[in-house]
Amino acid sequence: MNHSSAQDFPTQDLSHHFERIFRKDALLAPKNAPTVSTHRPLFLEIGAGKGKHAVLFAKENADKHLIAIERTSEKFDAFAKLAGAENLDNLTAIQADAIAYTAHHIAPNSLDGVFILYPNPEPANKNQRWLNMPFFEFLISRMKAGATITIASNIAEYIDEAQKLLDEVWLLPYERVQIDSDSARTHFEIKYLARGEMCQELVILKPNYYQTRFDHDDTQA
Ligand SMILES: C[S@@+](CC[C@H](N)C(=O)[O-])C[C@H]1O[C@@H](n2cnc3c(N)ncnc32)[C@H](O)[C@@H]1O
Repeated sequence: MNHSSAQDFPTQDLSHHFERIFRKDALLAPKNAPTVSTHRPLFLEIGAGKGKHAVLFAKENADKHLIAIERTSEKFDAFAKLAGAENLDNLTAIQADAIAYTAHHIAPNSLDGVFILYPNPEPANKNQRWLNMPFFEFLISRMKAGATITIASNIAEYIDEAQKLLDEVWLLPYERVQIDSDSARTHFEIKYLARGEMCQELVILKPNYYQTRFDHDDTQA
């Protein structure tokens, strides 16, 4: 892992990279979305698709709670069906925009891990890529020190760009990993690996010295 120590950690000045700061009051709270209260370590999956990873994770980690969010009805309906059949008490499946949900329902310093698996590559609008959004700072503020964000993609350029942003903008340590060809965590992962494409992920660590401008923003819907 590309580690920095607290002493050599420069304060990230995001104003050079982003013209605007994330504003949660510009987003409506999703309707009928619950705030999850749990004594278990809390994980968040953004863009859960049909929920394959979410269900696998919940089944394999009975001691952890996963909130998995998917925006589209088409995919969420399949996810809800799968989750309903498994009836797992440590999985909360939510149809919502994950940005609005996180902004209004996740407390600062509360997440033990975040998964963003095979996000849309947004070729026509790179500002919509997760590490290019002011929201990413807010997301980091929701994580505990020592928590990780796992972001996977079959597009090397997406991972290259994210790595550059970690080095130059976010100043977060990470590990870059090639995903095994027999991995089968999500529908997209299965499809890409079956086509012989290389899939990679960045496992990004929030160090204990890391601070954001949202660390004390704890107003929830
Ligand atoms: C390429 S798919 C990958 C789905 C799944 N993770 C997989 O690997 O099979 C990306 C998913 O992210 C969802 N998504 C994108 N932005 C989102 C947002 N802001 N909130 C919730 N879901 C989102 C899309 O609807 C889509 O289903």
